Amino acid sequence: MSNKMWGGRFAAGPDAIMAEINASIGFDYRFAAQDIKGSLAHVAMLAATGIVTPETAVAISEGLNQVKGEIERGVFTFSHALEDVHMNVEARLGELIGPEAGRLHTARSRNDQVAVDFRLWIRDTIDHLDGQLRDLQKILADRAISYASNVMPGFTHLQSAQPVTFGHHLLAYVEMFGRDRSRFADSRRRLNECPLGAAALAGTSFPIDREQTARALGFDRPTANSLDSVSDRDFVLEALAAAAICATHLSRFGEEIVLWTTPQFGFVALSDAFTTGSSIMPQKRNPDAAELLRGKAGRVIGALTGLLIVMKGLPLAYSKDMQEDKEGAFDSLHTLSLCIAAMTGMAKDLRPDLKRMKAAAGVGYATATDLADWLVRALGLPFRQAHHVTGALVKIAAERNISLEKLTLEDMRAVEPGITPDVFGVLGVEKSVKSRTSFGGTAPANVRAQARRWKARLEKESHAPPGSR
Ligand code: ARG
Repeated sequence: MSNKMWGGRFAAGPDAIMAEINASIGFDYRFAAQDIKGSLAHVAMLAATGIVTPETAVAISEGLNQVKGEIERGVFTFSHALEDVHMNVEARLGELIGPEAGRLHTARSRNDQVAVDFRLWIRDTIDHLDGQLRDLQKILADRAISYASNVMPGFTHLQSAQPVTFGHHLLAYVEMFGRDRSRFADSRRRLNECPLGAAALAGTSFPIDREQTARALGFDRPTANSLDSVSDRDFVLEALAAAAICATHLSRFGEEIVLWTTPQFGFVALSDAFTTGSSIMPQKRNPDAAELLRGKAGRVIGALTGLLIVMKGLPLAYSKDMQEDKEGAFDSLHTLSLCIAAMTGMAKDLRPDLKRMKAAAGVGYATATDLADWLVRALGLPFRQAHHVTGALVKIAAERNISLEKLTLEDMRAVEPGITPDVFGVLGVEKSVKSRTSFGGTAPANVRAQARRWKARLEKESHAPPGSR
């Protein structure tokens, strides 16, 4: 049997393999809600412009709402033979209201239809992710206030570098997730134009009102070029790029949790809720969720690469290759949502071992920079010379296996005679972090102020309508 939606010039139905490779219903059924929303806006416009009669529009709208109900109740049967969600919905509409259903597709094509559906779907998904990321930021900002003055080692090259506060470290991620949100918001702003009415590729000869459908669907305006409207998927790519960057941030946080929960670091512990045991080694507590944040970033990044490759060689306008835009995007954005949820759970669950972090903060002469800075400030040494003097003192301390503050004044004066007892006022990890008061620095007072600023901003944002940022 030839296809009842487009089979007019076909005598026979497709080969089974053709049907299999061609069908997208196995995944684009997820667009059903957006597809019906788009069709409702379209038919209302067709009636308002006199392209269909008010009676037809009412029958179609009622039919569409019935289809929507069937899908929501899980009683709708999606048919493979009908290829995709658009034709499944329309075919069911025909069963419900008869041949008048055929008027819905006036002045429209599946090409602009799928472009509308996908934009609506990406927009909804961005709004959901934004809320999730905001909640994660809130928890991290709260915890940053609690640990604003708790010292831990800050690393470069994964070698102890300078002491920082745990709160400062948590706020670093709040900043990253803030930029992730702004990347999503930015892509949302650009995607928020309505392709409906571009039809197959060239527009339509019917007197449609594209402003009306754009407004009805919450878009800022109609898209301005019909070819572009049906042939670009940059709105998907932008969302996937934002997702890939966000997943990368989550992956780095996951990696830190993996490190911090080892017995060797022992900086934080996760409860039973976010760890698993080993079937052979009874002592083990594995941070699987944190590891999976790292692992799943791979597929999120892969989805972006995959779609870039699908798109890169396509001439304008629509090509069926573009049907491959969906599965990667669904998987990527769903995976990201799961990762954010897991990170949020772990952010609540993490119990830091503050004593251990503090002890580790002093390891490796992490306050050497403080000593060098003091030599510059108090004795007027050029920084390069101060660096040299400090290096010599670190060497002596290391030979004796003691910390810098355990050196005597005599030890110090043997290297730099100008040193006074005041130097001991800057040595020590807590003194070190307290002194880092430059804007954005790790001083507890700064960290508290930044965390409060974030909390106020996040609170305000949670009352703002989606897309308003
Ligand atoms: N299922 C198709 C897709 O996802 C819908 C658009 C089909 N358009 C066409 N001209 N065959 O891309």
